[in-house]
Amino acid sequence: MTTTYTLTDEALGGLVAAQFGPLPPEPAANRVALHQAYALWRDRNVQLSQYPTPLDLAHYFVGELFATDWLAGRTATLLETSAGSGALLEPLAAAIREGMFDATAYEIDPIPCLVGSRLFPQVTWYNRSPETDLAALQGRFDVVVSNPPWRRSVFTGVGELKAAYEFATWDREQLFLALAIDALRVGGRAMVLLPPNCLSQLTQEFWDWLQARCSTYRVLPAPEWSGRWQNEIVATYWERSYD
Ligand SMILES: C[S@@+](CC[C@H](N)C(=O)[O-])C[C@H]1O[C@@H](n2cnc3c(N)ncnc32)[C@H](O)[C@@H]1O
Repeated sequence: MTTTYTLTDEALGGLVAAQFGPLPPEPAANRVALHQAYALWRDRNVQLSQYPTPLDLAHYFVGELFATDWLAGRTATLLETSAGSGALLEPLAAAIREGMFDATAYEIDPIPCLVGSRLFPQVTWYNRSPETDLAALQGRFDVVVSNPPWRRSVFTGVGELKAAYEFATWDREQLFLALAIDALRVGGRAMVLLPPNCLSQLTQEFWDWLQARCSTYRVLPAPEWSGRWQNEIVATYWERSYD
């Protein structure tokens, strides 16, 4: 029996199948399963905190990270901790293509990960949480860019991060902030997008940990032209000064 999916259904089916495994063979059941699976994926999106950075904001914030020529033309190691389909890599796309970055991206959801790996074939993509490879990531990167998942969720691969960074709460932005700093080598810089109140909620122990590694940091609010984002997101910039 042949199926009569439209191209869109097939494309969506392929993506959903990539995430949930093969769909049942009978076409009518396929359609129901597809709708259910898609609904499940939407729900999971919320759990995963899947909010891609708008591209104009990505250019603005990432541009600020490279406003001075601190990499001095050398090939730099770059980490995107939770890349989605790569919005924060987009401002660096030409440089990545030209081999100026040795870039690594983690993304726990196979769907944006698949899209990202098509858009940025020069980047090494891992369809898993970076916590899986924590020991290998520590102290390795010249540049870290991250718009991490925010808020708490027990389902999204942060248990190892919580164990490694006991001073952080279960709020994922805190855990990914610690990961970003931890992944830097001395002299490296990180840009982490955070909720505006995030830094004021860090414990003294967290601040002590940060200050033992970074002598400076800077906060850049979202610009006025970004509309509602102005009150919803800030960029934080960190330089790793000490081991
Ligand atoms: C706020 S979105 C930002 C995506 C991308 N960085 C961007 O700027 O467009 C957060 C991303 O983190 C992913 N994510 C959630 N938990 C994760 C984990 N434990 N490891 C890796 N990625 C994760 C989500 O699927 C989502 O794509």
